[in-house]
Amino acid sequence: MKNKKIVFANQKGGVGKSTLCILFANYLAWKKQDVCIIDTDLQKTIMMQRKKDCELYPDTDEPYNVQDFDVADPETMQQLMDSASQTEGYVLFDSPGNVSEDGLVPMFTNADYIICPYEYEEKTLDSTGMFVQVINALRKLTPEMQAKLFFVPNRIDVRIGTTDELKMWKQTDAIFKQLGAVTPRITARAALKRINTFEITPSQRDAVRPAFEFIIRRIKE
Ligand SMILES: Nc1ncnc2c1ncn2[C@@H]1O[C@H](COP(=O)(O)OP(=O)(O)O)[C@@H](O)[C@H]1O
Ligand SMILES: [Mg+2]
Repeated sequence: MKNKKIVFANQKGGVGKSTLCILFANYLAWKKQDVCIIDTDLQKTIMMQRKKDCELYPDTDEPYNVQDFDVADPETMQQLMDSASQTEGYVLFDSPGNVSEDGLVPMFTNADYIICPYEYEEKTLDSTGMFVQVINALRKLTPEMQAKLFFVPNRIDVRIGTTDELKMWKQTDAIFKQLGAVTPRITARAALKRINTFEITPSQRDAVRPAFEFIIRRIKE
């Protein structure tokens, strides 16, 4: 497979960027695909998780690489993206919330795909909308930018919504569909709170399979 650079992003915190990035890496590794993660978030959620996992399973081989990267200036980020382009397989980037930072620009402009988790909740939808505006502004400034957007409805309540909620969800998806692809939903569940960077459990796999297979299929097309 050719190299694919995939950025998990949304300026809203807590929507599941780091969680879905880890789960996607685990899922791809389970499917015997080449994958690695570059953690550009200041909070280093994934890096710290990997450290914990290594202490917990000292005798297990790491299934994929997690690399730390401190966002500084656009030049350094461009170098990272250039070297990521030379890496075989899927290169996943976990990103911080503040998407407007200059140093991050090359990450978005060089990405093949941007995966944007969101929730059906007013504040989250507002920030997701602002995030899309930032991406569109970058596209205008950077004609060679090719990133395709995937929107992933995440942490969805399993109960069926009220009529008003269902209407709002549908309208939201319709807006995002004009900007990119909307994947099947990922529900909120306890199994997705207990994740590690070594393996994906069968119940976690069931939870993410529809969304992740949707993405993988589109990437291969
Ligand atoms: N589908 C889900 N079901 C249950 N909990 C989830 C789900 N997705 C994310 N979470 C939880 O939500 C919180 C925020 O997720 P996180 O991935 O850290 O968000 P972000 O990286 O966007 O800030 C975490 O506690 C995580 O365990
Ligand atoms: Mg995070």
